[in-house]
Amino acid sequence: MKSSRWVRQWRSSSSQHGWVAIGLHWVSALLIIGLLALGIWMVTLSYYSQWYHPAPHLHKSFGMLFAAILLFRFIWRLINHQPEVQGKAWERQAAHYGHRVIYLLLMAIVVSGYLLVTAEGAVVSVFDWLDIPASPIQFERQADIAGWWHRWLSYLLIACIALHIAAALKHQLIDRDGTLSRMLGRIQ
Ligand code: HEM
Ligand code: HEM
Repeated sequence: MKSSRWVRQWRSSSSQHGWVAIGLHWVSALLIIGLLALGIWMVTLSYYSQWYHPAPHLHKSFGMLFAAILLFRFIWRLINHQPEVQGKAWERQAAHYGHRVIYLLLMAIVVSGYLLVTAEGAVVSVFDWLDIPASPIQFERQADIAGWWHRWLSYLLIACIALHIAAALKHQLIDRDGTLSRMLGRIQ
């Protein structure tokens, strides 16, 4: 029987992302872009806006949901093959380190967000369904320091995502090596 042109296997191989990795990539991308937009918008709200309380609540809840997805993604990467990156040697190196930088930024943004919210020992309420307790480690000026890092690492992440998207489009449209189609589940 003729095989489908779209990926069917759930695990990744050395030539193809599996559908779990593909799903994790695109769900994470949507969540991250939403969290960035919501974060930037919500800090401009006045106390009298009807969104003054719900917007941060949604941001924190989706942020913690994303933290769980990120943790699962790390585990999934560890127990799966990584498909070979396409392109010249320097491009493969750049992608290798670039992806690591993105993961590190995401981890640091989640941790700083958590430390910011729990600075006074408060819990993080996730969709009014689950309360995540504050860390037993508290430090001086925790909210200021964590807030500073949360903001500036998020802005740095935006720059990295812009570069990442430009690289993906360059591979797809100029080099025509199918990098983006592969992340969309097309079999090479
Ligand atoms: C990938 C995940 C996340 C991204 C991309 C993100 C992004 C952002 C951005 C861009 C801002 C606005 C910063 C500013 O201009 O001042 C912000 C603010 C904020 N974020 Fe996040 N965030 C994430 C996860 C979280 C998590 C997990 C929490 C807490 C549990 C959190 C709590 C907050 C809070 C409380 C603010 C308001 C800070 C203030 O009032 O200055 N964020 N976030
Ligand atoms: C918030 C947005 C995004 C983040 C944080 C992100 C992050 C990542 C990371 C960490 C990888 C490494 C592979 C993995 O571990 O799954 C990756 C792969 C990839 N991303 Fe994104 N991504 C984002 C959005 C996008 C967008 C919008 C595009 C398309 C224009 C894109 C195209 C790709 C492609 C084509 C690959 C596969 C590279 C390869 O197979 O060598 N990403 N992305």
